[in-house]
Order: sequence, then structure tokens, then C-alpha cells
Amino acid sequence: MTAQPIDGNALAAKLRAHMATEVAALAAQGHTPGLTVLLVGEDPASQVYVRNKVKACEAIGMASRLERHPADMSEAALLARIQELNADPSVHGILVQLPLPKHLNADLVIETIAPEKDVDGFHIASAGALMVGQPGFKPCTPYGCMKMLEDIGCNPRGKHAVVIGRSNIVGKPMALLLLQASATVTICHSATPNLAELARQADILVAAVGRPRFVTADMVKPGAVVLDVGINRLPDGKLCGDVDFDAVKDVAGWITPVPGGVGPMTITMLLQNTLEAAQRRAST
Ligand code: GUN
Repeated sequence: MTAQPIDGNALAAKLRAHMATEVAALAAQGHTPGLTVLLVGEDPASQVYVRNKVKACEAIGMASRLERHPADMSEAALLARIQELNADPSVHGILVQLPLPKHLNADLVIETIAPEKDVDGFHIASAGALMVGQPGFKPCTPYGCMKMLEDIGCNPRGKHAVVIGRSNIVGKPMALLLLQASATVTICHSATPNLAELARQADILVAAVGRPRFVTADMVKPGAVVLDVGINRLPDGKLCGDVDFDAVKDVAGWITPVPGGVGPMTITMLLQNTLEAAQRRAST
């Protein structure tokens, strides 16, 4: 192995310990940061995710509430509940867990969240703010990736960053954050004919494709920083990323493992966004 591993668990623990002191300071002023998570239906994976989010909030002293609603909840009832939470000063962040049951319009639901409480960074106002470089909430996974680069001392300025994947949640905001940090950015996706060739030019390679071990060693420039956003479940039940870790670790300079890489950073940045929401509210 030549690559240095980027330990997401260690960085997450360091950032969360620091946040806990800021949460305590806000709480002492009567502004305990609060996150409300809305779960509609019984999707088993979503149940695990929301439980982890709520537990992570509690662990650093935030006030966190999980609201479970039945799968047949009407859209009108969900929108009305979000509007109540928008108006509740004890709630600084609102997160509606996705995917939603099919009869609910997820875009409309997300747009109903007040932008100043959109700690997922999924609202059009958050996406627009990121696009034009104004303050707003950044989507948690790409935000976590940027923190990892900072932690290893990798300044994207002047580097070639290649992002594989163009989702609204990871690929597109990742590319915008790297661009904001003055990288030259290429976005590759399923219709990119020379993807391997482009990936090989990357000083920073971000894999967010959702296909197990998609990035192979021949697609990586020696010494590159490789961030693996993928979490794929293999037939034997094991988790694996979008990067062929065992092969790529012999080529890359830095690499995130799966699990224990980008994953722990996503919830960490949700906590960071919720803390920032409470700090902004406390200073108004
Ligand atoms: N479902 C899977 N990941 C996420 C996330 O980060 N936020 C929300 N709201 N739903 C999700």
C-alpha cells in the first residue's frame, strides 16, 4: 500500500468534539440547537439512517426529535407539519428523510422547508446560493469531502478535480464546491465516452457513481487523492465503495476506505449545518 488512508471516523470524532463545545455555549445562552427529522413510512434503511442522525445530535448535546408518520400521510398534512416546524423557534433544522412514499412530491416537500432550516442543503435556495457563491447550507456529503481535503492539507486551487457522478445530492454540489475552491473541474457520468482517460488526469478524484468497485487502478493517476462516496451492499452482505480499494491503494496518494471514510462525515456535516443554523438564529 502506498496511499495514506483518510480516516473519516477520526476526523468526524475531532469535529464533533469541537462542535459539542459550541453547542454547550449556545445552550448556555438559551439557544440549544434543535434538529427535527421527519420519517414518512417504514423504509428499513431509512429507519436506521434517521436513528443514527438523532443519536449523533444527542451525543453532542443538541435537541433532536424524530417524528414518525404513517406511509399514507397526505401531502397536505406533511406540508402543514413542515410549515409548523418552520414557525417553531426551537427548531433550527428540518430534515425530511428521502425517499418519500410515491404519492408525495419530494420536490414540493423540500421546497416547503424554510431555506434557513434546510440543513440537508437540498432546497433550491440552498442549491442557488451554492451556485452563485452566497452563504447557504451545503449538502452534507460534498461538504464532508471538502473537510477531508482540508484535513489532509490538500488545497484544490489549481488542481484538476474529476467528479464521477452528477446527482443533485453529491456530484453537482461537489463539483461546485471544488470550483469555488479554484480547482479545474471535470464532471463525468454514464454518457462520458472517455471516462477512464479523464479520471486518470485527476489530482483529486471523487467517485459518486453507485456501482461497486467502478474505479479501477488503471483509472487513477499515481499520487492522486481519491474520495469514495459509494456505499454498495455486495451479495455476501459486505459493504464496498465505488473504488476498487485493494488495487487503487497501490496507486493513489490518499484514499478513503469504505466503510469508515466519507460515510461518517455526512452526519457530521449535518450536525455542522444544524449548529450553523442555530448560531445564525441566535445572532439575529
Ligand atoms: N436519504 C439518504 N440520504 C439522505 C440524506 O442525506 N438526507 C435525506 N433527507 N434523505 C436521505
